[in-house]
Amino acid sequence: MNLLDKLVIPLSPEHVQLLHYISMLIFFLFVPFISIVLVGTLLSLTYKRKGFKQNNNIYIKFSKDLIETVTINKSMGIMLGIVSLITSVLIYIQLFHGANLITVEYLIWSFFFVTIGIILIYTYRYSSSFSELFNSLDESKEDESIAEEIKKYRVNSRKLSLKAGGFGIAFLFIGTWVFTAGVTLGFFTSKWNDTHLLSVLFSWAVIARYITFLLLAAAFTGATILFSFFYWEGGKENLNEQYKYFIRKNGIVLTAIPAVILPLFLLLDLTDLPGVTLSSSVFTFITLGVLLLFLGYHYLYVMYKNNSTDYSIHIFIVVLLTIFATIIADQTAMVNANKPQTFALAQNFDNVMTKLTASSAPPTISGEDIYKNICSACHSFDHKVVGPPYNQTLPTFHGDVDKLVDFILHPTHPIPGYPEMPNPGLTQPQAHAVATYILKEVKKYE
Ligand code: HEC
Repeated sequence: MNLLDKLVIPLSPEHVQLLHYISMLIFFLFVPFISIVLVGTLLSLTYKRKGFKQNNNIYIKFSKDLIETVTINKSMGIMLGIVSLITSVLIYIQLFHGANLITVEYLIWSFFFVTIGIILIYTYRYSSSFSELFNSLDESKEDESIAEEIKKYRVNSRKLSLKAGGFGIAFLFIGTWVFTAGVTLGFFTSKWNDTHLLSVLFSWAVIARYITFLLLAAAFTGATILFSFFYWEGGKENLNEQYKYFIRKNGIVLTAIPAVILPLFLLLDLTDLPGVTLSSSVFTFITLGVLLLFLGYHYLYVMYKNNSTDYSIHIFIVVLLTIFATIIADQTAMVNANKPQTFALAQNFDNVMTKLTASSAPPTISGEDIYKNICSACHSFDHKVVGPPYNQTLPTFHGDVDKLVDFILHPTHPIPGYPEMPNPGLTQPQAHAVATYILKEVKKYE
């Protein structure tokens, strides 16, 4: 991990605080996005398979609309899925420098899995639209052999598309699981030495948190379906009643079932956290998350009972805020767990700063020191040593510091009966300091 060490800069406690905030904001983007991509793609694939098998057009249409909704577009995939994750990996490298390498390692692994998963899922999305091209060609059955050929292409491209989607889901599933393990290890300082990947992945703490994530992801995907089909830009156009009913039912069920189980898991995760991580704000945010879910039930119920599409925006916001609340609670717990690490970083910062200031500040020049260390070997103020005593020679300078500095920097040989004074090799400021000192001191001997 020497390479990683090179990326690390010394952090003051303020920097640590700031990095925690930034990583929280990045999670606000990354977690909701990866949630809808994971569950949305899974759902899209399932309905696509079912649709082809049962020749159900609603399923096939839903599958296509869904994958286009959850993957938004390619640049969103790159920004929200890949760039945001690598940024948070870099932040954790800084935060856990010298202490928690395992969290960093897991996050790096999750980055590779998630990236491959996202690429495959976008392949699935765009190859789905591509295979539809053949559908439209299908109608022009002028030539038997061409029709055969087209059919073959269509079947193959459909297979390829389903395969890309399936592998994409698998990679994303592993990636988010390892990601959860990395973040969970951020709280469990005691587990930092447990480097066995499988025992970490299958530990109850990690599994419980991963289930929480999946439940949140499912609820948020349901909420996103309701929101994007019925609210976003006035709702999707050309929805017939049958399709509308289908989407409403699916969206409500997909949101409601996980949302009902979620409070249980949020509380379980809380009881599972090590004592050091718990503070009143961790409790507050988890409680807030649970209350938001209750508010969500209310909107879901109204939507279900009134057979309406209102409140889809409310449900979307409520579930999104629940995700935010759990992220804040997690980050707070992590800050609490890592106080010793923050302290170590702060000390390291102090050390580096003192070293920096020590080497770059100009050395303090004391005229007295220079006199004692250099000049006094040959000079005294009131009697002859090797050179003449200062109380005889200095009066000839008439208190002119500059003239004396000039002499010290370039000694001449003005006094008969003495040898030549060697150049003491001082810098201009040093010469100035010692000149000032001896001119002041010599007054005591006049
Ligand atoms: C190795 C011995 C030696 C050291 C060290 C030395 N000096 Fe001298 N200094 C002399 C000698 C010898 C003379 C007489 C030179 C001459 O007659 O030209 C002298 C002369 C002087 C004079 C008289 C110059 C004049 O024109 O009247 C001053 C002032 C002086 N030194 C200051 C200093 C200061 C300040 C230092 C320390 C930074 C210093 N010296 C270090 C040997 C030394």
